[in-house]
Amino acid sequence: MIPGEPIFSKSTRVLHINQNNTLEVCRFAGEVIRRGELVAFPTETVYGLGADALNQQAVRNIFSAKERPADNPLIVHVSNTDEVKRVAKNTPKIAQVLMDAFWPGPLTLVLPRKNIVPDVTTGGLDTVAVRMPDHLAALELIREAGVPVAAPSANTSGKPSPTTAQHVMDDLGGRIDMIIDGGRVVIGVESTVIDVTGNIPVLLRPGGVGIEELQEIIGRIRVSTPEDVSIPRSPGVKYTHYSPEATVVLVTGDGVAGAIRKLAEEYEGKVGLLLCRETAETVGDMGEKIILGSRNDVESIARNLFYSLRLLDKQHVELIIADGSFSVEGVGLAAMNRLKKASSKLIHTG
Ligand code: TXA
Ligand code: MG
Repeated sequence: MIPGEPIFSKSTRVLHINQNNTLEVCRFAGEVIRRGELVAFPTETVYGLGADALNQQAVRNIFSAKERPADNPLIVHVSNTDEVKRVAKNTPKIAQVLMDAFWPGPLTLVLPRKNIVPDVTTGGLDTVAVRMPDHLAALELIREAGVPVAAPSANTSGKPSPTTAQHVMDDLGGRIDMIIDGGRVVIGVESTVIDVTGNIPVLLRPGGVGIEELQEIIGRIRVSTPEDVSIPRSPGVKYTHYSPEATVVLVTGDGVAGAIRKLAEEYEGKVGLLLCRETAETVGDMGEKIILGSRNDVESIARNLFYSLRLLDKQHVELIIADGSFSVEGVGLAAMNRLKKASSKLIHTG
């Protein structure tokens, strides 16, 4: 044993939910959260790793289970809009408008923080990120816990976010107390994060709610980019993200099919291909091939993305060649954002 390293020897209970037992399971799991333990649960976006957001030790345990850097703050989950007042000092008018339009749903609002929320939850920031998920079990769990629930995605830091309970088990089994298994998630990528503490809202992370939908409701939005340091950024963006074991190469532009075929033919190890349906039709037969969906079917692309990255890892693929020819409208922007971050190389074809 390395001195100072945490030892994890929990037995992780998996509770399956169905139409008949959800409320009962969530009541039980809510008590577990209230006791200061860790419960992974499904949301509409990805699985989250939940703990009492106001309990410092419980939140610290989230960071060690995930091996997450301490300065990367957590999203606090609520089960109704009134609960926001417990953790946020005030609710700017624009935040209210966004909550009315998109909650429950895949939108996280960064708001001024109340001191009741410990530093460990917010990474020491004077803001707090809040979201009300659109998922029965998640909402019941939070309601039954009776406390706001801090929950990052339930993966080891740096890995693709989990879209099934098995993914959570693969990463965090033995490190957490319980997993609520609600099957595969619907959206497949995380929530959109928007900072509404300034004069103009800032998009910190694209996600389940498309930027077009946000613009329709609130008009002008600034988009946080690594290049423009005058715009606020999420602390999380500086870390490696969404990386499977295999190396990922992302191919974009008009000549994707030809470039992907050439790369796959030249590579000597085991190759996995993540393709849009249209590209798959011209690439032909080679390697482990997964079709994410049609180029314009961005919901399918997003839903299958993390799931497929993990599937290719299970097949011990060494190189994943990903097809970036899908639309970046709606949730497509989030899928492209995650794929870029997962990739160690980007090839743009003319
Ligand atoms: O869909 C989701 O958002 C999922 C589910 C479980 O709800 N959660 C999730 O959490 O993706 P996580 O921790 O993996 O990502 C949270 C992101 C990070 O990029 C973090 O830096 C940012 O939100 N964040 C959290 N609090 C913030 C704050 N006060 N200011 C700016 N960014 C913040
Ligand atoms: Mg995450």
